[in-house]
Amino acid sequence: MQRLKDKVALVTGSGAGIGESICLRFASEGACVVGMDSNQIEAERVATTINTSGFRAYAQTGDVSKQTDCTRVVKWVISNLGSIDVLCNVAGIVTGGTLLDVSEEIWRRTMDINLKGMYYLCQLAVKEMIRQEGGAIINISSVAGLIGLKNRAVYSVSKAGIIALTKSVATDFIKKGVRANAICPGVIESPSWKERVNTSTDPEKALQDFIDQVPLGRVGKPEEVAALAAYLASDESAFMTGQALSIDGGKTM
Ligand SMILES: NC(=O)c1ccc[n+]([C@@H]2O[C@H](COP(=O)([O-])OP(=O)(O)OC[C@H]3O[C@@H](n4cnc5c(N)ncnc54)[C@H](O)[C@@H]3O)[C@@H](O)[C@H]2O)c1
Repeated sequence: MQRLKDKVALVTGSGAGIGESICLRFASEGACVVGMDSNQIEAERVATTINTSGFRAYAQTGDVSKQTDCTRVVKWVISNLGSIDVLCNVAGIVTGGTLLDVSEEIWRRTMDINLKGMYYLCQLAVKEMIRQEGGAIINISSVAGLIGLKNRAVYSVSKAGIIALTKSVATDFIKKGVRANAICPGVIESPSWKERVNTSTDPEKALQDFIDQVPLGRVGKPEEVAALAAYLASDESAFMTGQALSIDGGKTM
């Protein structure tokens, strides 16, 4: 399918996991993809994979928690590719602990990367999308933003904030042709998730514990999240905005 033909898509967190899969899927659907990641090597690896497959992608190195990086990347997209039709905010970090464990430094870092970065990029992209009279924003939240997850206090706050940010953008700019939706994944098999399992004191038990949390009896794949993101980025979802969609093997059913 070529549902994103002639669209320019900016995807953050493009160097691994869900962000990488979204870049590959968007490109295979015909989009010109710009992948922004703080890890230059991985961002370039993903862009090269896409280009050698006959699709179109560029890598931009940048930290979403830095306004100067976000501004530079959006300016680059506009001046080199002419528009920004899809913004998919994926970059994020998982920080553990209950409220009692969260230092101010962990709070600040988690909120800066997971939430403030999306505020910067949504603000920059919405301005362009208003000018272009249309655009789609997809923000990756988490089931942690919807329900209580153990030991994920500040992470959950940041992910709930993403849902509120998404709904605000959707509400305020609906008449300008800008749609915004959030995706709330459950456990997804990404490199950082695998590392969390493998570095736990008992990896086999940790893996089983994750699987036991999912009514469907397995963890999800990044490609499954990418398929939903492609639908939300495309005009097929033109009647949908302001939603927070769970993709979680039944965790929040
Ligand atoms: N994997 C899961 O189980 C799961 C579940 C729910 C939500 N999510 C969310 O999905 C998103 C991606 O998670 P994942 O597990 O696929 O990713 P990951 O941790 O495997 O990869 C994240 C990518 O984001 C990049 N990144 C991190 N901080 C950045 C920053 N400040 N600026 C730019 N790039 C940055 C990393 O370099 C990396 O390439 C995150 O927002 C995460 O919270 C993941």
